[in-house]
Amino acid sequence: MEKRIRIAINTGGGDAPGLNAVIEAVVMAAYYRNWEVYGIKNSYAGLLNTDEVMRLTPESVSHISNTGGTILGTTNRGNPFMMPVTNLAGEVEIRDVSDKVVENFKRLRFDCLIAVGGDGSLGIAYQLYKKGIPVVGVPKTIDNDICETVITFGFDTAVSIATEAIDRLHTTAKSHERVMVVEVMGRHAGWIALNSGLSGSADVILIPEIPFDIGKVCDHIMELDVNGQHYAIVVVAEGASPAGGRVIDKGKGEVGRQDVMLGGIGEYLAKDIAVRTGKETRSIVLGHLQRGGNPTTFDRLIALRFGAAAVRIVGEKKFGTMVGLDPPHIKAVPLEKIIGRIKNVPLDTDTIKTAREIGISLGD
Ligand code: F6P
Repeated sequence: MEKRIRIAINTGGGDAPGLNAVIEAVVMAAYYRNWEVYGIKNSYAGLLNTDEVMRLTPESVSHISNTGGTILGTTNRGNPFMMPVTNLAGEVEIRDVSDKVVENFKRLRFDCLIAVGGDGSLGIAYQLYKKGIPVVGVPKTIDNDICETVITFGFDTAVSIATEAIDRLHTTAKSHERVMVVEVMGRHAGWIALNSGLSGSADVILIPEIPFDIGKVCDHIMELDVNGQHYAIVVVAEGASPAGGRVIDKGKGEVGRQDVMLGGIGEYLAKDIAVRTGKETRSIVLGHLQRGGNPTTFDRLIALRFGAAAVRIVGEKKFGTMVGLDPPHIKAVPLEKIIGRIKNVPLDTDTIKTAREIGISLGD
Protein backbone atom coordinates (compact mmCIF):
# COMPACT_ATOMS: atom_id res chain seq x y z
CA MET A 1 0.00 0.00 0.00
CA GLU A 2 1.26 3.49 -0.84
CA LYS A 3 2.46 5.56 2.13
CA ARG A 4 0.04 8.19 3.39
CA ILE A 5 2.18 11.35 3.35
CA ARG A 6 1.88 13.67 6.35
CA ILE A 7 2.40 17.34 5.42
CA ALA A 8 2.99 20.06 8.03
CA ILE A 9 2.18 23.63 7.00
CA ASN A 10 2.97 26.95 8.67
CA THR A 11 2.64 30.64 7.80
CA GLY A 12 5.43 33.03 8.87
CA GLY A 13 6.31 36.72 8.79
CA GLY A 14 3.82 39.52 8.19
CA ASP A 15 0.45 38.27 6.99
CA ALA A 16 -0.64 38.81 3.39
CA PRO A 17 -4.09 38.40 1.86
CA GLY A 18 -4.15 34.97 0.22
CA LEU A 19 -2.55 32.91 3.02
CA ASN A 20 -5.82 31.12 3.73
CA ALA A 21 -6.24 30.34 0.05
CA VAL A 22 -2.81 28.61 0.07
CA ILE A 23 -3.84 26.60 3.14
CA GLU A 24 -7.14 25.61 1.52
CA ALA A 25 -5.43 24.50 -1.69
CA VAL A 26 -2.73 22.53 0.15
CA VAL A 27 -5.35 20.68 2.22
CA MET A 28 -7.60 19.94 -0.76
CA ALA A 29 -4.75 18.89 -3.08
CA ALA A 30 -3.41 16.60 -0.33
CA TYR A 31 -6.89 15.16 0.29
CA TYR A 32 -7.14 14.44 -3.46
CA ARG A 33 -4.04 12.21 -3.06
CA ASN A 34 -5.27 10.69 0.20
CA TRP A 35 -2.52 12.48 2.18
CA GLU A 36 -2.82 14.27 5.53
CA VAL A 37 -2.12 17.90 6.43
CA TYR A 38 -1.32 19.33 9.86
CA GLY A 39 -1.37 23.04 10.69
CA ILE A 40 1.51 24.46 12.75
CA LYS A 41 0.51 27.53 14.73
CA ASN A 42 2.32 30.86 14.78
CA SER A 43 5.10 30.28 12.31
CA TYR A 44 7.86 28.06 13.77
CA ALA A 45 6.70 28.49 17.39
CA GLY A 46 4.20 25.66 16.86
CA LEU A 47 7.08 23.27 16.23
CA LEU A 48 8.63 24.17 19.59
CA ASN A 49 5.47 23.92 21.63
CA THR A 50 3.46 21.35 19.71
CA ASP A 51 0.30 21.45 21.87
CA GLU A 52 -1.69 23.24 19.19
CA VAL A 53 -0.73 21.23 16.10
CA MET A 54 -4.03 20.65 14.32
CA ARG A 55 -5.20 18.20 11.71
CA LEU A 56 -6.56 20.18 8.76
CA THR A 57 -9.43 18.55 6.89
CA PRO A 58 -11.52 19.70 3.94
CA GLU A 59 -14.18 20.73 6.48
CA SER A 60 -11.75 22.87 8.50
CA VAL A 61 -10.66 24.84 5.42
CA SER A 62 -14.01 25.00 3.70
CA HIS A 63 -14.33 28.30 1.83
CA ILE A 64 -11.54 30.19 3.60
CA SER A 65 -9.80 31.13 0.34
CA ASN A 66 -11.68 34.43 0.19
CA THR A 67 -10.70 35.51 3.72
CA GLY A 68 -7.78 37.68 4.86
CA GLY A 69 -5.23 36.87 7.58
CA THR A 70 -4.20 33.29 8.34
CA ILE A 71 -6.07 30.65 10.31
CA LEU A 72 -2.67 29.38 11.51
CA GLY A 73 -1.51 32.66 13.01
CA THR A 74 1.87 34.20 12.21
CA THR A 75 4.71 36.23 13.68
CA ASN A 76 7.88 37.91 12.47
CA ARG A 77 9.64 36.98 15.68
CA GLY A 78 10.49 33.45 16.83
CA ASN A 79 13.36 32.45 14.54
CA PRO A 80 14.36 29.06 16.08
CA PHE A 81 17.99 29.70 15.14
CA MET A 82 17.99 32.97 17.12
CA MET A 83 15.34 32.59 19.79
CA PRO A 84 15.21 35.08 22.68
CA VAL A 85 15.02 33.02 25.88
CA THR A 86 14.85 34.36 29.46
CA ASN A 87 17.57 32.69 31.54
CA LEU A 88 17.51 31.94 35.29
CA ALA A 89 18.96 35.39 36.05
CA GLY A 90 15.96 36.93 34.27
CA GLU A 91 18.08 38.14 31.36
CA VAL A 92 17.06 37.64 27.73
CA GLU A 93 19.63 35.68 25.75
CA ILE A 94 19.58 34.51 22.14
CA ARG A 95 19.73 30.71 21.68
CA ASP A 96 19.65 28.28 18.77
CA VAL A 97 16.71 25.96 19.50
CA SER A 98 16.45 24.54 15.99
CA ASP A 99 17.40 21.01 17.16
CA LYS A 100 14.16 20.97 19.14
CA VAL A 101 12.21 21.92 15.99
CA VAL A 102 13.81 19.05 14.06
CA GLU A 103 13.20 16.64 16.96
CA ASN A 104 9.50 17.57 17.22
CA PHE A 105 9.07 17.39 13.45
CA LYS A 106 10.39 13.82 13.49
CA ARG A 107 8.43 12.84 16.63
CA LEU A 108 5.21 13.95 14.92
CA ARG A 109 6.19 11.73 11.93
CA PHE A 110 5.81 14.52 9.38
CA ASP A 111 7.19 13.81 5.93
CA CYS A 112 7.63 17.42 4.85
CA LEU A 113 6.99 21.04 5.74
CA ILE A 114 5.24 23.51 3.43
CA ALA A 115 6.55 26.84 4.71
CA VAL A 116 4.55 29.84 3.53
CA GLY A 117 6.49 33.03 4.13
CA GLY A 118 8.55 35.97 2.99
CA ASP A 119 12.34 36.16 2.70
CA GLY A 120 12.86 35.81 6.48
CA SER A 121 10.64 32.75 6.94
CA LEU A 122 11.90 31.13 3.75
CA GLY A 123 15.46 31.70 5.00
CA ILE A 124 14.59 29.79 8.17
CA ALA A 125 12.96 27.07 6.05
CA TYR A 126 16.17 26.75 4.07
CA GLN A 127 18.25 26.40 7.24
CA LEU A 128 15.86 23.71 8.48
CA TYR A 129 16.14 21.95 5.12
CA LYS A 130 19.90 21.87 5.60
CA LYS A 131 19.27 20.21 8.98
CA GLY A 132 17.27 17.44 7.34
CA ILE A 133 13.67 18.70 7.17
CA PRO A 134 12.19 18.18 3.66
CA VAL A 135 10.85 21.66 2.86
CA VAL A 136 8.82 23.24 0.07
CA GLY A 137 8.41 27.01 0.35
CA VAL A 138 5.54 29.18 -0.84
CA PRO A 139 6.51 32.86 -1.30
CA LYS A 140 4.18 35.42 0.24
CA THR A 141 4.47 39.15 0.72
CA ILE A 142 2.56 42.25 -0.14
CA ASP A 143 5.96 43.79 -0.99
CA ASN A 144 6.44 41.59 -4.11
CA ASP A 145 10.18 41.61 -3.41
CA ILE A 146 10.98 37.87 -3.60
CA CYS A 147 13.21 36.82 -6.49
CA GLU A 148 12.46 34.02 -8.96
CA THR A 149 8.71 34.59 -8.97
CA VAL A 150 7.01 37.16 -11.17
CA ILE A 151 4.60 38.00 -8.39
CA THR A 152 3.69 37.10 -4.81
CA PHE A 153 0.12 36.92 -3.57
CA GLY A 154 -0.96 39.80 -1.34
CA PHE A 155 0.66 42.35 -3.64
CA ASP A 156 -2.37 42.87 -5.86
CA THR A 157 -4.60 43.39 -2.83
CA ALA A 158 -2.17 45.90 -1.29
CA VAL A 159 -1.93 47.83 -4.57
CA SER A 160 -5.73 47.88 -4.91
CA ILE A 161 -6.19 49.22 -1.38
CA ALA A 162 -3.49 51.87 -1.84
CA THR A 163 -4.95 52.91 -5.21
CA GLU A 164 -8.39 53.35 -3.71
CA ALA A 165 -6.91 55.47 -0.91
CA ILE A 166 -5.04 57.65 -3.42
CA ASP A 167 -8.22 58.07 -5.47
CA ARG A 168 -10.00 59.33 -2.36
CA LEU A 169 -7.21 61.75 -1.52
CA HIS A 170 -7.53 63.51 -4.88
CA THR A 171 -10.88 65.09 -3.98
CA THR A 172 -9.88 66.38 -0.56
CA ALA A 173 -6.47 67.56 -1.82
CA LYS A 174 -8.14 69.44 -4.66
CA SER A 175 -10.76 71.04 -2.42
CA HIS A 176 -8.10 72.40 -0.05
CA GLU A 177 -5.41 72.99 -2.67
CA ARG A 178 -3.09 70.88 -0.56
CA VAL A 179 -0.16 68.58 -1.14
CA MET A 180 -0.96 65.10 0.18
CA VAL A 181 1.98 62.80 0.88
CA VAL A 182 0.94 59.13 1.03
CA GLU A 183 3.43 56.70 2.57
CA VAL A 184 2.97 53.09 1.47
CA MET A 185 4.64 49.84 2.50
CA GLY A 186 7.07 47.75 0.47
CA ARG A 187 10.28 47.69 2.53
CA HIS A 188 13.28 48.24 0.23
CA ALA A 189 11.35 47.73 -3.00
CA GLY A 190 9.09 50.23 -4.74
CA TRP A 191 6.52 47.90 -6.29
CA ILE A 192 3.53 49.00 -4.20
CA ALA A 193 4.36 52.71 -4.53
CA LEU A 194 4.97 52.56 -8.27
CA ASN A 195 1.91 50.48 -9.14
CA SER A 196 -0.55 52.24 -6.84
CA GLY A 197 0.86 55.68 -7.66
CA LEU A 198 0.53 55.03 -11.36
CA SER A 199 -2.98 53.57 -11.07
CA GLY A 200 -4.07 56.34 -8.71
CA SER A 201 -2.73 59.17 -10.94
CA ALA A 202 -0.20 60.45 -8.43
CA ASP A 203 1.84 63.49 -9.42
CA VAL A 204 5.04 62.30 -7.78
CA ILE A 205 6.12 58.71 -6.99
CA LEU A 206 9.22 58.11 -4.89
CA ILE A 207 10.69 54.60 -4.71
CA PRO A 208 13.81 53.13 -3.08
CA GLU A 209 15.28 52.25 -6.48
CA ILE A 210 15.47 55.97 -7.46
CA PRO A 211 16.95 58.20 -4.73
CA PHE A 212 15.05 61.49 -4.93
CA ASP A 213 16.03 65.14 -5.10
CA ILE A 214 13.63 67.15 -2.91
CA GLY A 215 14.32 70.25 -5.02
CA LYS A 216 13.06 68.48 -8.13
CA VAL A 217 9.99 67.15 -6.29
CA CYS A 218 9.09 70.71 -5.23
CA ASP A 219 9.83 72.13 -8.69
CA HIS A 220 7.31 69.65 -10.13
CA ILE A 221 4.66 70.62 -7.57
CA MET A 222 5.19 74.33 -8.33
CA GLU A 223 5.07 73.69 -12.07
CA LEU A 224 1.68 72.00 -11.64
CA ASP A 225 0.56 75.01 -9.62
CA VAL A 226 1.61 77.46 -12.34
CA ASN A 227 -0.25 75.33 -14.88
CA GLY A 228 -3.47 75.52 -12.87
CA GLN A 229 -3.33 72.36 -10.74
CA HIS A 230 -3.09 73.79 -7.23
CA TYR A 231 -2.87 70.47 -5.41
CA ALA A 232 -0.61 67.45 -5.67
CA ILE A 233 -0.46 63.82 -4.62
CA VAL A 234 2.95 62.44 -3.66
CA VAL A 235 3.20 58.66 -3.14
CA VAL A 236 6.32 57.61 -1.27
CA ALA A 237 7.54 54.09 -0.51
CA GLU A 238 8.55 53.59 3.12
CA GLY A 239 12.03 52.58 1.94
CA ALA A 240 12.61 55.63 -0.30
CA SER A 241 15.39 58.05 0.57
CA PRO A 242 16.89 61.29 -0.73
CA ALA A 243 20.02 61.03 -2.87
CA GLY A 244 22.91 60.88 -0.42
CA GLY A 245 20.50 60.49 2.50
CA ARG A 246 19.37 57.49 4.48
CA VAL A 247 16.23 55.39 4.85
CA ILE A 248 14.17 56.40 7.89
CA ASP A 249 13.44 53.58 10.32
CA LYS A 250 11.93 53.06 13.75
CA GLY A 251 14.50 50.59 15.05
CA LYS A 252 14.11 46.87 15.70
CA GLY A 253 10.88 47.04 17.65
CA GLU A 254 9.97 43.84 19.47
CA VAL A 255 12.55 41.50 21.02
CA GLY A 256 13.35 38.64 18.66
CA ARG A 257 12.58 40.59 15.51
CA GLN A 258 15.33 40.33 12.88
CA ASP A 259 14.58 43.34 10.68
CA VAL A 260 14.16 47.04 11.43
CA MET A 261 10.75 48.65 11.15
CA LEU A 262 10.63 51.19 8.34
CA GLY A 263 8.49 54.31 8.28
CA GLY A 264 8.52 58.06 8.77
CA ILE A 265 9.60 59.28 5.34
CA GLY A 266 6.08 60.60 4.55
CA GLU A 267 6.00 62.90 7.56
CA TYR A 268 9.57 64.05 6.92
CA LEU A 269 8.79 64.83 3.28
CA ALA A 270 5.54 66.62 4.04
CA LYS A 271 7.32 69.04 6.40
CA ASP A 272 10.06 69.74 3.89
CA ILE A 273 7.61 70.24 0.99
CA ALA A 274 5.52 72.67 3.08
CA VAL A 275 8.57 74.77 3.92
CA ARG A 276 9.96 74.79 0.39
CA THR A 277 6.69 75.36 -1.54
CA GLY A 278 4.68 77.30 1.02
CA LYS A 279 1.75 74.99 0.28
CA GLU A 280 -0.45 73.40 2.93
CA THR A 281 0.77 69.80 3.16
CA ARG A 282 -0.51 66.72 4.98
CA SER A 283 0.91 63.22 5.28
CA ILE A 284 -0.93 59.91 5.53
CA VAL A 285 0.55 56.52 6.38
CA LEU A 286 -1.56 53.70 4.91
CA GLY A 287 0.23 51.12 7.07
CA HIS A 288 -1.43 47.80 7.83
CA LEU A 289 -4.63 48.71 5.98
CA GLN A 290 -2.66 47.46 2.96
CA ARG A 291 -2.49 43.96 4.47
CA GLY A 292 -5.94 43.68 5.98
CA GLY A 293 -9.15 42.25 4.59
CA ASN A 294 -10.00 39.83 1.83
CA PRO A 295 -7.65 39.03 -1.05
CA THR A 296 -8.51 40.22 -4.55
CA THR A 297 -9.58 37.62 -7.11
CA PHE A 298 -6.08 37.76 -8.62
CA ASP A 299 -4.40 37.05 -5.27
CA ARG A 300 -6.82 34.22 -4.49
CA LEU A 301 -6.00 32.56 -7.78
CA ILE A 302 -2.24 32.91 -7.37
CA ALA A 303 -2.45 31.63 -3.80
CA LEU A 304 -4.61 28.63 -4.77
CA ARG A 305 -2.24 27.80 -7.64
CA PHE A 306 0.81 28.13 -5.35
CA GLY A 307 -0.76 25.86 -2.72
CA ALA A 308 -1.69 23.12 -5.20
CA ALA A 309 1.72 23.40 -6.91
CA ALA A 310 3.51 23.02 -3.55
CA VAL A 311 1.70 19.69 -2.99
CA ARG A 312 2.63 18.57 -6.51
CA ILE A 313 6.28 19.39 -5.76
CA VAL A 314 6.06 17.37 -2.53
CA GLY A 315 4.88 14.44 -4.68
CA GLU A 316 7.90 14.93 -6.94
CA LYS A 317 10.17 15.04 -3.83
CA LYS A 318 11.81 18.28 -5.01
CA PHE A 319 12.64 19.51 -1.52
CA GLY A 320 14.67 22.61 -0.60
CA THR A 321 12.68 24.53 -3.20
CA MET A 322 10.04 27.24 -3.43
CA VAL A 323 7.17 27.57 -5.88
CA GLY A 324 7.67 30.49 -8.26
CA LEU A 325 5.42 31.93 -10.95
CA ASP A 326 7.08 31.91 -14.36
CA PRO A 327 4.03 32.34 -16.63
CA PRO A 328 2.38 30.23 -17.76
CA HIS A 329 4.11 27.77 -15.41
CA ILE A 330 4.75 27.42 -11.72
CA LYS A 331 8.24 26.08 -11.21
CA ALA A 332 10.22 24.68 -8.29
CA VAL A 333 13.04 27.16 -7.54
CA PRO A 334 15.96 26.09 -5.29
CA LEU A 335 15.65 28.12 -2.07
CA GLU A 336 19.35 28.97 -2.19
CA LYS A 337 18.64 31.07 -5.30
CA ILE A 338 16.39 33.48 -3.41
CA ILE A 339 17.88 33.71 0.09
CA GLY A 340 19.43 37.10 0.91
CA ARG A 341 18.31 38.67 -2.36
CA ILE A 342 15.68 41.35 -3.02
CA LYS A 343 13.66 41.70 -6.22
CA ASN A 344 13.72 45.42 -6.89
CA VAL A 345 11.83 47.34 -9.57
CA PRO A 346 14.07 47.20 -12.69
CA LEU A 347 14.87 50.75 -13.77
CA ASP A 348 14.24 49.88 -17.41
CA THR A 349 10.75 48.49 -16.78
CA ASP A 350 7.98 49.88 -18.95
CA THR A 351 6.09 50.82 -15.78
CA ILE A 352 8.76 53.39 -14.95
CA LYS A 353 8.82 54.60 -18.56
CA THR A 354 5.02 54.88 -18.51
CA ALA A 355 5.09 56.96 -15.32
CA ARG A 356 7.59 59.39 -16.82
CA GLU A 357 5.78 59.56 -20.18
CA ILE A 358 2.45 60.47 -18.59
CA GLY A 359 3.99 63.32 -16.64
CA ILE A 360 4.66 61.78 -13.24
CA SER A 361 7.81 62.94 -11.46
CA LEU A 362 9.99 60.19 -9.96
CA GLY A 363 11.96 62.79 -8.03
CA ASP A 364 15.14 62.51 -10.13
O1 F6P B 1 6.80 42.76 4.61
C1 F6P B 1 5.48 43.18 4.73
C2 F6P B 1 5.39 44.45 5.54
O2 F6P B 1 4.04 44.84 5.56
C3 F6P B 1 6.28 45.58 5.04
O3 F6P B 1 5.76 46.22 3.90
C4 F6P B 1 6.36 46.44 6.27
O4 F6P B 1 7.54 47.21 6.29
C5 F6P B 1 6.38 45.43 7.37
O5 F6P B 1 5.81 44.23 6.86
C6 F6P B 1 5.64 45.85 8.60
O6 F6P B 1 5.87 44.92 9.59
P1 F6P B 1 5.01 44.83 10.92
O7 F6P B 1 3.69 44.20 10.56
O8 F6P B 1 5.81 43.98 11.82
O9 F6P B 1 4.81 46.22 11.42
